Amino acid sequence: MSSHVPLRRLKELARAMWRRSYAPYSRYRVGAALETESGAVFTGCNVENASYGLTICAERGALAAAVAQGHRSFRRLVVATEGDQAVAPCGACRQVLAEFGTRLEVHGIGTKENRRWTLQELIPEVFVLTDD
Ligand code: THU
Repeated sequence: MSSHVPLRRLKELARAMWRRSYAPYSRYRVGAALETESGAVFTGCNVENASYGLTICAERGALAAAVAQGHRSFRRLVVATEGDQAVAPCGACRQVLAEFGTRLEVHGIGTKENRRWTLQELIPEVFVLTDD
């Protein structure tokens, strides 16, 4: 059995990523911490661009960092935003995360509200390539 990182620690790491967020256009800072099944943690922040549509979300940044280091099994994702309410990953990030399975536990952390979902709940029907 691989070790779990305390949820409190994952939240701290996601919150800490606010400081790294590059969001001069929306001024909406997002941090993410993704725990692998093996107990490693990868973090990400949103990276905006003058060509707005090229913006990279915090969740996809964390996922890309993890995959680049050879990880493909994930247990928990914490998404931290500065608003009062907990925020779930955007639709594009849900699809990208679902590539690696929908059993992922997703935690949204706002300043006044925390919420928890499974990725399966957030994206019940995933696009998959079929060969017929
Ligand atoms: N953003 C994320 O980083 N993750 C999400 O799931 C939703 C949106 C970022 C993108 C953009 O920099 C800012 O939040 C406002 O949309």
